[in-house]
Amino acid sequence: MSILQRVTLSSASKNIFKVYGSRLVNSTAKYCTTNDGKEKNISNVTVIGGGLMGAGIVQVAAQNDFDVVIVDKEDEYLQKCMVMVRKSIDRITKKKFPDEPKLASKFVNDTLNRIKTEKEPSVGVANADLVIEAITENLDAKWKLFEVIDKAAPKHCIFTSNTSSLPIFEISKVTSRPDKFGGLHFFNPVPLMKLVEVVKAENTSQETFDTLFQFSKDLGKIPVACKDTPGFIVNRLLVPYMMEAIRFVERGHANARDIDTAMKLGAGYPMGPFELADYVGLDTIKFIVDGWHKNNPDNPLFNPSEMLNRCVEMGKFGKKNGEGFYKYTN
Ligand SMILES: NC(=O)c1ccc[n+]([C@@H]2O[C@H](COP(=O)([O-])OP(=O)(O)OC[C@H]3O[C@@H](n4cnc5c(N)ncnc54)[C@H](O)[C@@H]3O)[C@@H](O)[C@H]2O)c1
Repeated sequence: MSILQRVTLSSASKNIFKVYGSRLVNSTAKYCTTNDGKEKNISNVTVIGGGLMGAGIVQVAAQNDFDVVIVDKEDEYLQKCMVMVRKSIDRITKKKFPDEPKLASKFVNDTLNRIKTEKEPSVGVANADLVIEAITENLDAKWKLFEVIDKAAPKHCIFTSNTSSLPIFEISKVTSRPDKFGGLHFFNPVPLMKLVEVVKAENTSQETFDTLFQFSKDLGKIPVACKDTPGFIVNRLLVPYMMEAIRFVERGHANARDIDTAMKLGAGYPMGPFELADYVGLDTIKFIVDGWHKNNPDNPLFNPSEMLNRCVEMGKFGKKNGEGFYKYTN
């Protein structure tokens, strides 16, 4: 997490993003345009998929005065999502209003009152100005969902995906509105991580892109502009870095612990690449690299690794299940 913050917030990287941003971002950002040509502020946001990312996005949107519908497949998942949201809001409230119990309880109640739950995607998007899809990372599942909601959502509604590894244009192809389709890539944990990568795919209109950029600011985030390139900015740089560290060990040029020590003490990173890989999840990294390799077989940066594949085959997924490159006690 800290590496990501460093990458995104150092003054050098801010300057780089300004250069790219000046090409992609139009300073006169507008909100969505309805069928009759009127401009409308985004006020109703539907988040589909109430897992780790969805719960965070719901919370941040509700906290910032948006009316939010959260859609998930089962009541059980919706309840779990609301438990995550509640816990996280309580944590934030304690910090925000340590000595003001009345304001604290108003903040919690106002935020929760802005959230509705729904099982049926077509019902959940019926009044949406913006949909943020955060379901499982699977193209077929995303296609099926977007086909359904494309028929049910208002024509002015903008669609986005929080995908980490799939091309936005590819996902948008099943809809009748690729011009109103973009990427909003949040970072985990969403309530704490300031960055949002706003992705302009081949057919995303400038108006849609500007709206998404402004929406991210309205959530209190720092948006950066990026085209629809594998991994967007952060993962595109971090995943090949972690893969090269793994290949380094495969070649027998150093061991994992020494590489981690070297990058922490020599490059000033708070985590080494193997610690970071365990934190992200080795299964997740394998999934991302395999997808990129399939689509770009000639790019050596995306080559699979035997050692990573073996770890995943053996069920070593990283910190989340107790063992990856390192062992964890909790
Ligand atoms: N986990 C991360 O660190 C991270 C970071 C950035 C982006 N992402 C992306 O965000 C998305 C979600 O990731 P996550 O980690 O929150 O996953 P998750 O597994 O925690 O949650 C996914 C949720 O989607 C629900 N779901 C699946 N299919 C559905 C459908 N058809 N309709 C409604 N709900 C459905 C599941 O029940 C589950 O609750 C993925 O595309 C992932 O690549 C993840």
